[in-house]
Amino acid sequence: MSLWILLLWQRKFLDIKMSEIKKYEHQPVLLTPSVDALITDKSGIYVDATFGGGGHSKEILNHLNDDGKLYAFDRDIDALDNQISDKRLVLVKSDFRYLKKYLRYLGVTKINGLLADLGVSSWHFDADQRGFSFQSGTALDMRMNVEQDLTAELVLKSYSETELIKILTEFGEITNAKPLVAKWIKERKMININTCDAFADWLDPFVYGKRQKYLAQVFQALRIEVNGELESLKELLIQSGDLVQAKGKLVVISYHSLEDRIVKSYFKGEWPIDSNVDVFGKRKKIFKQVNKEVIVPDQKEIEFNSRSRSAKMRVGEKQI
Ligand SMILES: C[S@@+](CC[C@H](N)C(=O)[O-])C[C@H]1O[C@@H](n2cnc3c(N)ncnc32)[C@H](O)[C@@H]1O
Repeated sequence: MSLWILLLWQRKFLDIKMSEIKKYEHQPVLLTPSVDALITDKSGIYVDATFGGGGHSKEILNHLNDDGKLYAFDRDIDALDNQISDKRLVLVKSDFRYLKKYLRYLGVTKINGLLADLGVSSWHFDADQRGFSFQSGTALDMRMNVEQDLTAELVLKSYSETELIKILTEFGEITNAKPLVAKWIKERKMININTCDAFADWLDPFVYGKRQKYLAQVFQALRIEVNGELESLKELLIQSGDLVQAKGKLVVISYHSLEDRIVKSYFKGEWPIDSNVDVFGKRKKIFKQVNKEVIVPDQKEIEFNSRSRSAKMRVGEKQI
């Protein structure tokens, strides 16, 4: 079965069409600087690893001539509804951790550049039924790929005390995970909490500082775990090292410090340890960061789109 028939089949038979419930809306972040940094050849081959609402893809296509080509990926089936009618674009429903495999299948082994605008789209928070927002009265879900089994509810109800403490401490960076998880483990079999807002209310006695911020950190931790976000990012960076040709660009926009730290250390050549050491044992960089400081949205963009305020962009140039 060809890839396209498979994708159409998946789309046709998925039971809920989320976009029929709420319109997909997402404002692309750092649009001009990211695409300007990415394009080095108007007839080149590019990848948008996080298609979402298609804002960045549209702008990349605007920069390419008729010979240019764009491969876009998203693991959320609802993003496919934002398909752009353009013969230069191939849109693939997949986790970007399988990027190299899909591109090989499509006959592509080298690309001129890759853009990744990480995390979830505004639509994920706004579409109540996806369970990303602590204000939502729907199931604790948080899956970007609605076909996977692991949900936030499953994490909360089946993970061990040690695992939950690790997730909340490492991915949510909260400092009182131990007493919180101890109480949760004691109560979780007796209480029936399965919606986002009910879980947020249960968390109230543990909140320190601003409620919004604390809840956002706990929900972020669960979201990262449910979607395996950090492992996917590491895979994406490693595969970009093989795919992007010399002098090509890797542009990454991240939204929290955990992601940004991974990108920063990758550009510094700190990992992967085994594949970037030369014959003299000296560490070599696969990408060299082009911008000295991280690029962030200006005040005008933040005022227009408050969700852009945490964005940090790094641009790497392929060295070898
Ligand atoms: C911030 S949004 C991208 C928005 C897009 N740049 C635009 O202009 O509309 C991130 C998107 O990446 C997708 N995504 C996140 N992690 C992914 C992964 N590992 N593989 C594929 N898609 C992913 C999400 O489903 C979401 O649609």
